[in-house]
Amino acid sequence: MLMHSALLALSATLAAAVQPLEVKDEHFINPTTGNRFQIVGVAYQPGGSAGYDKEAGIDPLSDPDICLRDAALLQIMGVNTIRVYNVNPDVNHDKCASIFNAAGMYMVLDVNSPLVGDSLTSWNPWESYYAAYLNRTFAVVEAFKNYPNTLAFFSGNEVLNNEDTGATVPPYMRAVTRDVKNYIKNHSSRPIPVGYSAADVREILADTYHYFQCTLKGDDDNMSRGDIFALNSYSWCADSSFEKASYDDLVKIFTGTSAPVFFSEYGCNTPSPRIFTEVGTIYGPKMNTVFSGGVVYEYTQEENNYGLVEMKKDGSATLMKDFLSLTNQYSKLNFTELQGQKPASTSTTKPPACDSKLITSTGFSSNFTLPVLPPGAKEIIDGGVKPAPVGKLVEIKDWKVKFPVKNPDGSTITNLAVKPLADDTINSPGTNTESNTQEGTDTGTGTGTSSSPSPSVSKDAAVRPGAVVLPAVAMGAFAVVAGFAI
Ligand SMILES: *[C@@H]1O[C@H](CO)[C@@H](O)[C@H](O)[C@H]1NC(C)=O
Ligand SMILES: *[C@@H]1O[C@H](CO)[C@@H](O)[C@H](O)[C@H]1NC(C)=O
Ligand SMILES: *[C@@H]1O[C@H](CO)[C@@H](O)[C@H](O)[C@H]1NC(C)=O
Ligand SMILES: *[C@@H]1O[C@H](CO)[C@@H](O)[C@H](O)[C@H]1NC(C)=O
Ligand SMILES: *[C@@H]1O[C@H](CO)[C@@H](O)[C@H](O)[C@H]1NC(C)=O
Repeated sequence: MLMHSALLALSATLAAAVQPLEVKDEHFINPTTGNRFQIVGVAYQPGGSAGYDKEAGIDPLSDPDICLRDAALLQIMGVNTIRVYNVNPDVNHDKCASIFNAAGMYMVLDVNSPLVGDSLTSWNPWESYYAAYLNRTFAVVEAFKNYPNTLAFFSGNEVLNNEDTGATVPPYMRAVTRDVKNYIKNHSSRPIPVGYSAADVREILADTYHYFQCTLKGDDDNMSRGDIFALNSYSWCADSSFEKASYDDLVKIFTGTSAPVFFSEYGCNTPSPRIFTEVGTIYGPKMNTVFSGGVVYEYTQEENNYGLVEMKKDGSATLMKDFLSLTNQYSKLNFTELQGQKPASTSTTKPPACDSKLITSTGFSSNFTLPVLPPGAKEIIDGGVKPAPVGKLVEIKDWKVKFPVKNPDGSTITNLAVKPLADDTINSPGTNTESNTQEGTDTGTGTGTSSSPSPSVSKDAAVRPGAVVLPAVAMGAFAVVAGFAI
């Protein structure tokens, strides 16, 4: 009793927290409910690569006003996870992490950045594998390990991208995975899954997956094995299909997986604007038993033209048509069903033992002798990063968005705010109905026809001023959720 009230007193000062998730066999699991978790994610790197600036001390999670604006919009979409590529362990992320936590969203973090010394290189990987590099990756672990909404770390992203790099990188990539996992084991109060985010290069994809998933003799507790496996895939373009987009081949590769597999990026942008018809397939019965969802690339509009939202330097933002199309597709999913699956208590899938027979493409490494730790690294794994930039949840006092945000037609959205969710609540479409959302009249967005999508915008006279004009399908889902709540 005493402990309970002490806990209550503690939690009263902070917003509620999401439940830290665990990996069990091939699933992400919420340990309190036993429910399987499916990633409904968006890649989050406002400012693109320039959004990470070591000297200026900025990264995508350093400005709480920006995070608040984006968390409110992502909450309306129904997103439950963001992927953040380039973080600086030495800047403070407490407010942004607390905002996304309160909004019911998890974070998948890359421990690397593209700057020299911040990642393993594709060419001559041994030249980039040294203690100062590892110290930085461990510092990222320190920075994020205490946030309950830290879902996973990527130990690498597309470091292997063709047959040449397949010949040399795998042992080094698996070694970095081992080192980050050892660091977490020594210095984190909970296990946080670590794995690799692969380029969808079909010639080497299966080999890459097998190389990172197999179990290695003499490897205590599978420390070098990936806890998860993810791929960046752009094979579904326009109004494609399971077969046409060769998603069927992906399902073949990963059926029977012993670790969670998901898309760490998807969302081909040719043609544009996008209609995101892959969403129904990714979360549908053909895929959702094998895949644990995916991450759409990407939140902000940058030069490469994959955005959902245009953001200006002054903090103002405008929703793009893609924002509405994706929101519409998410709204057609049954989240109660999707996030309520109870996996079998004992999994039948076991990873294979590492063996050169697992490797099928010529030239891909079948060398399972991993490099030993570089000089000086063992001391850091044992004694910890010094100083350790450990983050923590903090109180957020004001949930109102401070910047003007507009619909695609230029009308301003009013009352935009993050709605902090109750303890252990994951975001889904319909949680944030307090922000001004309004049904449009056009339901034609990406409903499966290949005609050019035309999301509802607020040109219609019937539309309430100041609303996010969501497609009618989305509003239908909101109504269903509200109905349950009453
Ligand atoms: C290790 O990382 C911490 C945190 O970023 C930093 O302060 C420290 O200088 C680094 N140490 C070395 C030896 O690179
Ligand atoms: C390695 O992982 C496999 C699959 O999870 C498990 O069966 C095996 O017991 C593990 N081995 C060790 C040494 O932890
Ligand atoms: C969603 O799935 C749940 C659980 O399977 C079911 O009870 C509910 O009727 C479904 N909702 C809709 C709108 O289909
Ligand atoms: C295998 O890789 C290790 C480094 O990880 C290296 O020392 C060893 O020489 C390689 N073996 C072969 C046969 O190439
Ligand atoms: C840290 O991990 C390494 C490798 O697993 C282990 O040998 C060492 O004893 C651990 N150190 C501490 C302080 O736990």
